[in-house]
Amino acid sequence: MRRKLVVGNWKLNGSLAANAALVAAFRQRFLPATGAVCGVCVPAVYLAQAAELLANTGIEPGAQDLSREVRGAFTGEVSAAMLADVGAKLCIVGHSERRALFGDTDEQVAVKFGRAKAAGLTPILCVGETLAEREAGVTDAVVIRQLDAVLAPHGRAALENAVVAYEPVWAIGTGKTATSEQAQSVHAVIRARLAKVDAGLAAEMPILYGGSVKAANAAELFAMPDVDGGLVGGASLDAQEFVGIWNAMRARLN
Ligand code: PGA
Repeated sequence: MRRKLVVGNWKLNGSLAANAALVAAFRQRFLPATGAVCGVCVPAVYLAQAAELLANTGIEPGAQDLSREVRGAFTGEVSAAMLADVGAKLCIVGHSERRALFGDTDEQVAVKFGRAKAAGLTPILCVGETLAEREAGVTDAVVIRQLDAVLAPHGRAALENAVVAYEPVWAIGTGKTATSEQAQSVHAVIRARLAKVDAGLAAEMPILYGGSVKAANAAELFAMPDVDGGLVGGASLDAQEFVGIWNAMRARLN
């Protein structure tokens, strides 16, 4: 069966004390599940702390971004190998906030995707359309363009040990969730595009939905045949909400 994932994205939030309190609250409520992975993507400076706090919980630490560079004179950058070195297992790549606010292009995202894989991290490749793009009827074309930018240089290898997250930009942090039908429709387009590269691997690829996922809407989203879990921003900062989302996934597995 396809691997399922629920992954939190803390974004630019946290402190040593707040992270310890949040993970302690997760630990009180969290029960692992066979067939599903839970993860949290934390600011890079807190990865070592997160790795230590999450040891033996079944929750995997992850990063939110990485450098395109491997080493050398790139002031301020953090490489994939460094993230792995301090305990990251997962790494978000091409989040819409990186694309929109920090200028990550499709080509740069493809390089980062390759760096993450080379360092043994599981990349979570984010794709998704803006509201203007949805209204213009180009959602599928945008998502396919973003996928193709990664598939072109990496080919079949892109489908191994990787995760895709469909995150409509208009649903991120807005409280507006895509309906489960809207999510399913784009997830099916993504899987069909991946299947053109390798049908077997496409069938095994986890495709997550992200954008205002909460405990209250998770079960409905996860019931869709091509929705394999969630990438969760705001709600991942609240232990009860995040574990509620995780439990919606566990309920499907039991
Ligand atoms: P949100 O963010 O859950 O706060 O909408 C999702 C994300 O950006 O990954």
